[in-house]
Amino acid sequence: MKIKNICCIGAGYVGGPTMSVLAIQNPDIKITVVDINEERIKAWNDKDLNGLPIYEPGLKEIVQKARGQNLFFSTDVEKAIDEAEMIFISVNTPTKTYGKGKGMAADLKYIELCARQIAKVATTDKIVIEKSTLPVRTAQAIKNILDNTGNGIKFQILSNPEFLAEGTAVQDLLNPDRVLIGGEESDEGKEAIDALVDIYASWIPRERILTTNVWSSELSKLVANAFLAQRVSSINAISELCEVTGADVDEVSRAIGMDSRIGPKFLKASVGFGGSCFQKDILNLVYIAKTYGLNEVADYWEQVIIMNDHQKNRFAENIVSTLYNTVSGKKITFLGWAFKKDTNDTRESAAIYVADALLNEQAEICVYDPKVSQERIYADLDYLNTRSPEENRRLVKVVKDPYEACQEAHAIAILTEWDEFKEYDWKRIFDSVIKPAFVFDGRKILNKTTLNKMGFEYYAIGS
Ligand code: NAD
Ligand code: UGA
Repeated sequence: MKIKNICCIGAGYVGGPTMSVLAIQNPDIKITVVDINEERIKAWNDKDLNGLPIYEPGLKEIVQKARGQNLFFSTDVEKAIDEAEMIFISVNTPTKTYGKGKGMAADLKYIELCARQIAKVATTDKIVIEKSTLPVRTAQAIKNILDNTGNGIKFQILSNPEFLAEGTAVQDLLNPDRVLIGGEESDEGKEAIDALVDIYASWIPRERILTTNVWSSELSKLVANAFLAQRVSSINAISELCEVTGADVDEVSRAIGMDSRIGPKFLKASVGFGGSCFQKDILNLVYIAKTYGLNEVADYWEQVIIMNDHQKNRFAENIVSTLYNTVSGKKITFLGWAFKKDTNDTRESAAIYVADALLNEQAEICVYDPKVSQERIYADLDYLNTRSPEENRRLVKVVKDPYEACQEAHAIAILTEWDEFKEYDWKRIFDSVIKPAFVFDGRKILNKTTLNKMGFEYYAIGS
């Protein structure tokens, strides 16, 4: 089966970049990315491309090349569904905030809405692809809805989870370690799998395109994120041990990472992992395990989250205790707010929780982040509901210049590992801050010896 027309529901961090790369690699296929969020679609259609809703290195150039050729962004969801032979569902699957499974299970209401809408609109056979991260066995629910509310046409459901990381999305999509496709073992299932394999094979070597059954594919996505997050929590646990023993966590990472069985990646100690997915997906895994009565399995994975929360808390506590047990009325400068460098995404960023803890101690925070807007920072704090929006705006200032941010600070905290932080004129910063001059490096990116020489008291995670 040769696919000519694709629809992707959800123009977010996954739908936008994924479909842009699919489009440039498959110029013969028309791809329409749809979303109910009109502002987001308007931003994807931004004329001079500076207003794209997502910042990712290299994305702008790709959108520029494909948009208007074979890549389109639209709010007309029904038309795009109707025209397509293949539909990617790439909507958000946040943690439930209500009812059964609150705070743990994945909220599948957006997925269900998509399935119902596809069933209502579709009049020709469709391949429906789960691109969003979903609990294992969700394909069964989607199939039930499609088969029971549709117009008597045939649907094939595939699972094709996305493994891109933000900040490197374009590179990850152009050159993925693997693409995973799960489908039914029937002839129709195999035909659907082949159709999707063909699309990826236009730029990815076949041996890196893995096909499995649907349940393995759905579960593998949750497990991949759980293993990655577990590595961060593992090294973060060791970072605390390093701080009390005189070992250096970077040296430990290097020493263990050179063991080819362990490997060097994902061993950078930090103020804690953030991002929209690690916590959500582990909580989901824990919930699934509990649902099946596998309590030891659930507890094992939950510990990854507990360790991460501890890491964020102790970073904030260390600032307070080092500043003579009070930060009340003191200016604490945050360098970085994004959950990692090279992205404007702040979802679950450690910075939010560290700020909240310091604000509870009546600190005054000044934030500089090269890509995150003031509105986003206030929205993140307001969302916690710890204090009123007015109070957040009174206590937190957001500035556009890092040197201005550091002026007369009682302490500087590094929350994101942006490269530019390493290039700053730290002597100039030293001269402008209140003494003693404290730097708390939550990413261990600055050089202790250099900063000490300038006169800073420098504290880094894990040393
Ligand atoms: P996102 O919130 O950035 O985007 C989701 C979009 O879907 C939103 O713009 C929303 O308006 C839209 N949407 C929701 N319901 C809709 C509907 N019924 N019709 C049309 N549009 C609808 O989310 P995201 O970060 O792109 O994540 C999407 C999925 O991909 C999640 O399941 C996530 O776990 C998974 N994932 C994310 C990443 C990542 O790096 N962000 C990586 C891999 C997998
Ligand atoms: C992660 C996975 O890496 C992707 O494969 C996956 O597709 C994605 O989640 C998802 O499902 O959403 P992402 O969250 O974008 O990608 O970014 P990561 O590079 O994984 O970083 C996550 C967090 O861990 C960041 O806060 C980062 O600073 C932190 N981290 C990462 C560390 O503290 N130390 C490390 O060594 C690595």
